[in-house]
Amino acid sequence: MNIIITGGAGFIGNHVVRLFVNKYPQDTIINVDLLTYAGNLANLSDIEDLPNYKFIKADITDYEAMRRVMRDNAVDGIINLAAESHVDRSIKDPFVFAKTNMLGTLTLLQAAKEYWESCPEKYTGKLFYQISTDEVYGALQLSNPEGIKGLGANHCAYGPDFFLETTKYNPHSPYSASKASADHFVRSYHDTYGMPIVISNCSNNYGPYQFPEKLIPLFINNIRNRRPLPVYGKGENVRDWLFVEDHARAIDLIFHNGKVAETYNIGGFNEWKNIDLIKVLIRTVDRLLGNPEGYSDELITFVSDRPGHDVRYAIDSRKISRELGWMPSLQFEEGIEKTVRWYLDNPQWLDNVTSGEYMRYYESMYGNRDVR
Ligand code: NAD
Ligand code: DAU
Repeated sequence: MNIIITGGAGFIGNHVVRLFVNKYPQDTIINVDLLTYAGNLANLSDIEDLPNYKFIKADITDYEAMRRVMRDNAVDGIINLAAESHVDRSIKDPFVFAKTNMLGTLTLLQAAKEYWESCPEKYTGKLFYQISTDEVYGALQLSNPEGIKGLGANHCAYGPDFFLETTKYNPHSPYSASKASADHFVRSYHDTYGMPIVISNCSNNYGPYQFPEKLIPLFINNIRNRRPLPVYGKGENVRDWLFVEDHARAIDLIFHNGKVAETYNIGGFNEWKNIDLIKVLIRTVDRLLGNPEGYSDELITFVSDRPGHDVRYAIDSRKISRELGWMPSLQFEEGIEKTVRWYLDNPQWLDNVTSGEYMRYYESMYGNRDVR
């Protein structure tokens, strides 16, 4: 197969590209990425020379470019991860979120429709896979802020309810509204034109190569530089955390074995109140840096809350477990240790992406290879 993975230079994308390139040497993996501030080809330096990997710098909102990429590469499958992904940025500048997430997805769908309908076999053997988020479902209540005692590993700790595949969309931020809108377009291309599609909605990912504007890498970087840790509101919001490689494995299973037109929820059954997670992070970073316990507690700084801050996300991922046999592989403590170690072992990566150095480097390398 010839498979386009959009956003492959971003956080989740690089893990998906790496998995597919290594696991499916007979397939060609085409990473289509605009290399915005969040895209970094250094994330893929270990596989960039493999014969079944190809990078194309292009904008998913550029219709002519997407048509050309699909035709030139005889594309069978598309996994769309390209997006503006940070909620705080969407609050400051919603337009780029509507453009990339909504219009970009629509552009890909239309280019795929045109190309696939021109093939003799039409839609047979083709798939458009949209990577979505649990944030489209809105927010759950924090019905038991103290946690349910005796349930171990933060399993179902903060409320009796979960997001199901059938939960109605109810997005609150411009980011989640743009993702919800994209998902509706994806379903409409199945229902209207018969395009084979599949969608998955995942909870918060963590792990290596995440841009340090998101909670976990931002706080690791700030602790290492002894900068304040800005905790929004009272730090009581709850997120359900999943190690990024487990998400990549789920994407692989859904792409190859998922049922067309279905939705799959992916999550870790691993809910953490932000402030508790932050305390675990501080303890881990301090221990690995050889600091005394409690050394960085003073960096915690409570700041104004994020407007429209969703109180709690929690995914019910039993469908993908039941139907495709997927389970998270890592315990949270293990995943956090691995993650903190990775950032502390790769200070150059953190320094490069925070200085903008990598963007200047890759612009000079790839600026003239844009397909437009
Ligand atoms: P990211 O911000 O780290 O990476 C996004 C990538 O998309 C970057 O490489 C960027 O250069 C590229 N991109 C942006 N605009 C583009 C455009 N117009 N054309 C081509 N490429 C463009 O994002 P991420 O955290 O890796 O998220 C990937 C996907 O997974 C997103 O669709 C996001 O909504 C979804 N998701 C993320 C999480 C999470 O916790 N990070 C959870 C669930 C779902
Ligand atoms: O749930 C899936 C979503 O998870 C993805 O769709 C998004 O792309 C991804 O960014 C993430 O969204 P969140 O808003 O949950 O992630 P973030 O890391 O920005 O914040 C996690 C929690 O920590 C959230 O409750 C806000 C809080 N926070 C975040 C930052 C950056 C802070 O308290 N302080 C901070 O500085």
